[in-house]
Amino acid sequence: MVSTLLPGILILLMFSFAVGRDLTRGATPPTGDYACSNYMCINATLTGDMVEYTLSSTGKRNPGWMAVGFGTQMSNNPMVILWSNSDGSITLSQRVARSWVMPEVVPDPPRIATLSSDLSTASADKHTFNIPWDNSVKTNLIWAFGTQNPGSSAVDAPFQFHLDAGYAHFDLSKPLSASSKSDSSEVSSAPSNVAPASNPISPSSLTSTSTLPLNAHQRMAVAHAVFCTAGFLVFLPVGALVSRWVRTFTSAWYTAHWILQFVVAGPSIIIGLAFGVQTVNNGRIVEHPNDEHKKWGIILFALYICQCALGALVHWVKPKNSTGRPLQNYLHAGFGLILIGLGFYQVHSGYKKEWPETVGRADLMRDADLIWYIWIVVVLALYSAGLILLPKQLRQEAELRSMKEVATKEEQSSLLAESQPEEIGMHKIYRDRREYLIPV
Ligand SMILES: *[C@@H]1O[C@H](CO)[C@@H](O)[C@H](O)[C@H]1NC(C)=O
Repeated sequence: MVSTLLPGILILLMFSFAVGRDLTRGATPPTGDYACSNYMCINATLTGDMVEYTLSSTGKRNPGWMAVGFGTQMSNNPMVILWSNSDGSITLSQRVARSWVMPEVVPDPPRIATLSSDLSTASADKHTFNIPWDNSVKTNLIWAFGTQNPGSSAVDAPFQFHLDAGYAHFDLSKPLSASSKSDSSEVSSAPSNVAPASNPISPSSLTSTSTLPLNAHQRMAVAHAVFCTAGFLVFLPVGALVSRWVRTFTSAWYTAHWILQFVVAGPSIIIGLAFGVQTVNNGRIVEHPNDEHKKWGIILFALYICQCALGALVHWVKPKNSTGRPLQNYLHAGFGLILIGLGFYQVHSGYKKEWPETVGRADLMRDADLIWYIWIVVVLALYSAGLILLPKQLRQEAELRSMKEVATKEEQSSLLAESQPEEIGMHKIYRDRREYLIPV
């Protein structure tokens, strides 16, 4: 009886031992996953209840810092950021980003990452750390790669925005090949002889956010940028150029000027502003006008409204009996140029600072600098060139003044006598001239 049961019991014991071994994992060969993006690779190895992460550079760019985070998005998820220092040490900083701003240091993270100095190379291209396993083989990761070294070994050192970033889905249960311990030349020299179990694992993919379509939040920032840039850097400068260039040729300049500055630029600026406000509201940043770009945005909008009011004043309220140009005309012109200058400043801080901080896709703004500089030069050159018309304009204005004097005298005399045909002609010229000479 016992002799017949014994083999069965033995088999059962062996079976449960095998299952137990498998569950404790400690005795099983390590498993893990890895993936590479354009600039960096992440290798994860699960051994027992620890996961070893290695962030390495693909060699395309020198890493300034590399980061991996746990979760599917940047905000409110733990991150481990690593960079090497000039003294050969490596800083490991555990942080969390509360919103779209600079991640803060977490002094006592739930899972403490420890740098494994022996596996990390200070030559900056490979950093390894260990972190307790969270008991799930399917792990969502976010990652980022920056080219600018923080320049400090302090764990709370601020760092520049990333060059590339994205996410990955790791499966830590993939068996790692035994041959991964041996050098790569051996593996590549005899690929056909390698048994399936020792084949290198197929990598997961590191999805770079720079290859993804923009999300709703990012699209809103794009809409803000398009409308505000069109308003401040296209319509306002063109409107100013029209008043500079066309005024000495036709009285229609004034209609074109106010339509551009008010009817076209106005809605564009207001729509752009609305998208900007909405982008900030969706960005979950607690303090709203918290940086230069947002403060200047509000100031700029107020200045634009003032400039429109001043323009209306110049047009509708003309000082009586004034000789020469009233002060408000100069004010309106000068103010307009300042407004356009501020618009250039604002667009610059928008694409240079605001865009990478809130949207991240620095790749989309690669040529912005070039276009910005070219456009400044073009606008300045066209406006300055328009000043060659100034003598002509002054001549016309002097002519107008003398005509005005004549006309005033004639008006007085025509109260007594009927107008002569020549005088009617003179009045007509005077009225035509007046239309395009008096308003700025
Ligand atoms: C990451 O894993 C792959 C596949 O096992 C291996 O070829 C590569 O050398 C590993 N990289 C690092 C930095 O360990």
